[in-house]
Amino acid sequence: MTLAGKRILLVIAGGIAAYKSLDLIRRLRERGAEVRPIMTRGAQEFVTPLAVGALSASHVYTELFSREDEQDVGHIRLARECDLVLVAPATADLMAKMANGLADDLASTVLLATDRPVLIAPAMNPKMWVHPATQRNFALLQRDRINAIGPMEGEMAESGERGRGRMAEPLEIVARVEDLLSGPKPLAGLKAVVTSGPTHEPIDPVRYIANRSSGKQGHAIAAALARLGADVTLVSGPVTIPDPAGVQTRHVERAEEMRDAVLSALPADIAVMVAAVADWRVATSAGQKIKKQPGEAPPPLQLAENPDILKTVGHHSERPRLVVGFAAETENVEENGRAKLERKGADLIVANDVSPETGVMGGDRNRVRLISRGGVEAWPDLSKDDVAERLALWIATQIGGTGT
Ligand code: C5P
Repeated sequence: MTLAGKRILLVIAGGIAAYKSLDLIRRLRERGAEVRPIMTRGAQEFVTPLAVGALSASHVYTELFSREDEQDVGHIRLARECDLVLVAPATADLMAKMANGLADDLASTVLLATDRPVLIAPAMNPKMWVHPATQRNFALLQRDRINAIGPMEGEMAESGERGRGRMAEPLEIVARVEDLLSGPKPLAGLKAVVTSGPTHEPIDPVRYIANRSSGKQGHAIAAALARLGADVTLVSGPVTIPDPAGVQTRHVERAEEMRDAVLSALPADIAVMVAAVADWRVATSAGQKIKKQPGEAPPPLQLAENPDILKTVGHHSERPRLVVGFAAETENVEENGRAKLERKGADLIVANDVSPETGVMGGDRNRVRLISRGGVEAWPDLSKDDVAERLALWIATQIGGTGT
């Protein structure tokens, strides 16, 4: 819950990208934020106040002179009773009003009256974006310390035109909001390398050995370390989830590739090896697809041991100051975790029970035990994001970061 207790005043202006604001509201609320929406008249042509109200679980503010709303909050309170004003999408028109201090509707009045940080996510036709008037207004807004994300390159929803004008994706916007509202950065100046996901070990060009790891926990840890200010390299096996924001992600398939990518990220201060690396690979994977031969016995699979990346890092000449491993166990979780701590040269083993009934593999929740030389700490059942958040803070305490 990275935005727990944070109040976001979301101004939705009238552009086709307004449909993405619905998802944006969900993403913000998922992270614990309270979202109060303001919609311009134009926005209501694209999405309905009913949908915005339902998703935000809030009253939707639309009118500057509404007896009901004015008694309820009033535009000045609306402008101040929040931690951040987010404008998504920000149209060329609304940006022009903001740049020139116009206040002829609720959205522009609130934006003029607020003393809170403001983040805009511009979205418009690429020709409107490059127009000198818009560029002039944007430059003024930057001078006024208005934060901006995007617009991004890509295809326009309405015209199929390509160019800069697409609104940043909701998750990118959320990451920026988190960044703007985050507290101190105890890991600033420190480098971290994180592995995540499964590995795929080829049998032939079309078949491979894999496991059920989704990468959710590793990706969340990479993002959490980055939020605390670390410079993070994430080495990810094949996963279907997006690259986390604010992190350099390198994609690999096989364990050997993962090891090479991790070693090339050294020296680092922190290593968190979360990937479910396949223990074995096929000794000699076939160059061509292995054919089924009628009447013949299935081909034997000769396996070879994969490099142990955690162990390699834990005993490396450039060993990071803090080395963290994971232990996916189905029995004797604590004993196995302790043994692993020693064998792998790690400072901490995060042990989790991945018995099928726990639903940890691929699921969104995790119950872990932290096994270090200092003892064992059992954490309650948490979302993988919360485990990541707490682990990043634990790491920051251990490493005694420089703090800013
Ligand atoms: O030995 P086991 O696979 O249970 O150890 C799990 C820990 O070791 C995890 O942190 C995992 O990322 C790491 N590991 C590794 N390379 C391997 C096997 C496991 O980095 N080949």
